[in-house]
Amino acid sequence: MGSARSSRYTFAAGAEAARRLGARGVCVEIDPRRIAEARANARREDVEGKIRFIEENLLETNLRDATVVMVFLSLDLNRKLQPKLLKELKPGARVVSHRHRMGDWEPQKTVYARGPYRDHELFLWTVAKQD
Ligand SMILES: C[S@@+](CC[C@H](N)C(=O)[O-])C[C@H]1O[C@@H](n2cnc3c(N)ncnc32)[C@H](O)[C@@H]1O
Repeated sequence: MGSARSSRYTFAAGAEAARRLGARGVCVEIDPRRIAEARANARREDVEGKIRFIEENLLETNLRDATVVMVFLSLDLNRKLQPKLLKELKPGARVVSHRHRMGDWEPQKTVYARGPYRDHELFLWTVAKQD
């Protein structure tokens, strides 16, 4: 998995990152209908070959190769995911969450983006070297 540039794990999101940034991606989603939607989106954007689709519980996904993890989940699931991110990701890996924070992990940056239907709040963290 991965590429010279970036290995992007997208939990429950679409093909946009691969299309815009040229990254290779792994889309992890527990709901097969959502996987089918994501695959169709990727095909439409001509990036299907850059994305591996995995139908599984993201709390069981091996994240050690990820350089960027993007999530759009619930607050509760973010809280459960945070210790796993800190345990498995390498220092310098980045985490972006749409809408929700990650427990008490202080974001390094918060961005507000205007979408066609509503505004969006995005949080960024960079994994620090663990002791
Ligand atoms: C807020 S929706 C995001 C919808 C859409 N993928 C997007 O990015 O616009 C959250 C998604 O997380 C998925 N999800 C919930 N729990 C999950 C888990 N444990 N593992 C993987 N995906 C999960 C749901 O099936 C749902 O599609």
